[in-house]
Amino acid sequence: MATPKRTHTCGELGLQHDGAEVVLNGWVASKRDLGGLTFVHLRDRFGAVQVVLSDLAAEHGDLTPADIRAESVLSIRGTVRARPENQRKGDGTGAIEIDAVTWQRLAGCEPLPFDLSMRTPSHEETRLAHRYLDLRRPELMDKLVLRHRALQACRRHLDAEGFLEVETPVLTRSTPEGARDFLVPSRIHRGGFYALPQSPQLFKQLLMVAGADRYMQVVRCFRDEDLRADRQPEFTQIDLELSFVDSDDVMSMAERLMAALWKEALGVELTTPFRRLPYAEAMERWGCDKPDLRFGMELADLATAGEIRFDFLTASIADGGVLKGMVLPGGAGRSRKQIDAIVDRGKQLGLGGLLWGKVTASGWTGPAAKGFGDDFKATVAEQLGAADGDLFMAATGARTVVDTALDRLRRELAAEQDMIPADAFDFCWIVDFPLLDHDEDQDRYVATHHPFTAPVDEDLDRLETEPGAVRARAYDLVCNGVELGGGSIRIHTPELQQRMFRALGIDEAEAAEKFGFLLKALTYGAPPHGGIAFGFDRLVAMLSGTDAIRDVIAFPKTTSASCLMTEAPAAVDPAQLDELHLGLKD
Ligand code: AMO
Repeated sequence: MATPKRTHTCGELGLQHDGAEVVLNGWVASKRDLGGLTFVHLRDRFGAVQVVLSDLAAEHGDLTPADIRAESVLSIRGTVRARPENQRKGDGTGAIEIDAVTWQRLAGCEPLPFDLSMRTPSHEETRLAHRYLDLRRPELMDKLVLRHRALQACRRHLDAEGFLEVETPVLTRSTPEGARDFLVPSRIHRGGFYALPQSPQLFKQLLMVAGADRYMQVVRCFRDEDLRADRQPEFTQIDLELSFVDSDDVMSMAERLMAALWKEALGVELTTPFRRLPYAEAMERWGCDKPDLRFGMELADLATAGEIRFDFLTASIADGGVLKGMVLPGGAGRSRKQIDAIVDRGKQLGLGGLLWGKVTASGWTGPAAKGFGDDFKATVAEQLGAADGDLFMAATGARTVVDTALDRLRRELAAEQDMIPADAFDFCWIVDFPLLDHDEDQDRYVATHHPFTAPVDEDLDRLETEPGAVRARAYDLVCNGVELGGGSIRIHTPELQQRMFRALGIDEAEAAEKFGFLLKALTYGAPPHGGIAFGFDRLVAMLSGTDAIRDVIAFPKTTSASCLMTEAPAAVDPAQLDELHLGLKD
């Protein structure tokens, strides 16, 4: 049986087609039997349309409308007719229906593992195991369509700006982006392993040495790290590198790209340039380097805000701890039970406790009331805007613990209290990152971004003496509290690159062994260069208003890094391991 040629897709018909004879192919999204008449919603990627079948037998075989199963594939030949005016929805497919003349079944469908209409709740695992069915839901298919459009917009924009799209290897050596590598054993080289790229960082730098000038790639990156809603073990970057640029050039190029993308995908005009926040300021005011700026509730360091009467606070501060606070607008209206729940959440997030006080016109009430002098309360009112009806909260302890917990609490409370404006996009750049972070466990410095990031010129002479105080020529792009991208100006001389390796505790032998090819390339006329990479899945998630990047990935992995559909990772044949000169322990 030849596939019937469709004349239209299911989504494109409207009142203007009234009376036309059409052929449509699609899936049965739903079916209703009404005494002698069967109504079918026929769906494809482009939309859905109502089809009316009288007691017509199928064109081939002896099927009747009663045999039509949900999600089977039908071809319908019929006539478009306008629906009665009081039943129309818009003037597209909602205004018409198809009066079927003949129909045939192109494929049947077994009983479904879950209800695609989502009227009956289903487990996400079941949907992931049948992802091809889940993707039929317009809600998910529309996200793939948006992803496609966003990708085309990026490519068009970057092409017009002179970027050259170049592919780099997937079987390569480890690139230090701070995560664990996925390794691929070599059959030919016994004991040798390729690493899947955590990013094409070194290749794009080598392309600058090659004279490519402006490079772009839509590239899959692989990182074996703990997964979260915004992290997948394989994800896509829009990866860029440019020669003869400084930070401002890269940031304004990135702003033009974001503006083009938002315009194309959402019709939204972004205001550029985006504000820039030094890393230290972001940490102080929001407790994190990817602040959500859509709402207030800033944090403040309160160790010197005024009189502190609680001994445990003064002791903690004397011990090197911080005292940071924030204010929940209107929070004084919460019951004791609700406040206890906030305190418990704070403890879950690692805090020793959460001190709170209700701010009223006649003063503070609650546990914090007695602990602070009037001068302290006045500072809280001035700095954090605490006013009648608000809830003041404060925590003490190690800086990173307090910052991390208050940042989370701030986001959760704002979401719970509907303080986050819908449809707002609040972009900012985080700049002036420290070049190096001190790793307490290993007692050594690690690169905050990666070891190829250039230090700020004025800080160069402190690289050996005061490594922790050196700033990086790096920038992260943040929107609505999500890190969308990050990059830097690179080191382009072998001497400075060697100094950086030394600061990281990588001696010359190790540097030569791991990065000899880079060091060598830098001796053959490397232009000053820099770049950035955007997390494309995160970009699309943001454009489509979801927090979870798996919603915008056709075939995502679960948080335990497995694919429930193909059941990867899976065991392999012992003969394959043999060929790779590998054996399994136990
Ligand atoms: P970085 O490691 O910051 O920089 O990565 C760039 C962007 O990629 C996204 N991203 C991820 N998205 C989903 N899942 C993940 N596991 C994941 N990890 C990172 C983030 C992040 O901002 N080579 C440098 C870039 C450069 O210096 O030019 C790099 O890869 O949105």
